[in-house]
Amino acid sequence: MRLELRPGRAGDVFRLQEIERAAAELFRGSGLIDIDAMAVAAIGDHSASIEQGLSFVAEVEGRIAGFAFGEMHFDDAYLREVDVDPAYQKRGIGAALVARFVEAAKAKGAGAVYLSTFRTPPWNAPFYAQLGFSEAPHGDYLPWMTAIETEQAKLLDLNTRVFMRLGL
Ligand SMILES: CC(C)(COP(=O)(O)OP(=O)(O)OC[C@H]1O[C@@H](n2cnc3c(N)ncnc32)[C@H](O)[C@@H]1OP(=O)(O)O)[C@@H](O)C(=O)NCCC(=O)NCCS
Repeated sequence: MRLELRPGRAGDVFRLQEIERAAAELFRGSGLIDIDAMAVAAIGDHSASIEQGLSFVAEVEGRIAGFAFGEMHFDDAYLREVDVDPAYQKRGIGAALVARFVEAAKAKGAGAVYLSTFRTPPWNAPFYAQLGFSEAPHGDYLPWMTAIETEQAKLLDLNTRVFMRLGL
């Protein structure tokens, strides 16, 4: 498998949205998300991340197979989304994308990388725990994290969610 990680570009975004929707199929039947009603990340969110140098895609044999992107919130980085096309999952691509994002956040001087995920599926909180992230206690949430949580509460049961943190 010829795997190459590179920065995301504007022309990638429709493929990234397609991957996000396809990858979400992993949750079908879990009761955690209404897959058919979910929105994918907006073009503007991708664009902001590309501008900040915090968008990365993984190509396998020249085909985009996955991506990770996020943005800075004051002194910290937020890893907003990581998705791998189902045809390419469980080959280490997700882990490689997270590592690339963390490296870029560190280079930008971020104090930590945060993300928000589901607690129980093995490809969510346990996957990130394997990569060194740990649960951020609710009392430690920063105002921007609370704002994200408020948006999530419109669509998701917050009891199923957790913010995780990796200090850099
Ligand atoms: C999360 C995701 C990006 C991981 O991508 P990936 O390329 O399959 O991940 P990796 O191959 O690097 O897997 C790393 C580890 O995660 C766990 N894992 C990943 N997918 C798994 C699955 N379907 N079932 C069980 N464990 C899984 C395993 O522990 C795996 O390690 P192993 O291969 O040594 O067993 C991918 O599962 C995905 O797109 N999921 C749907 C969208 C999603 O949940 N995104 C994250 C939102 S916070």
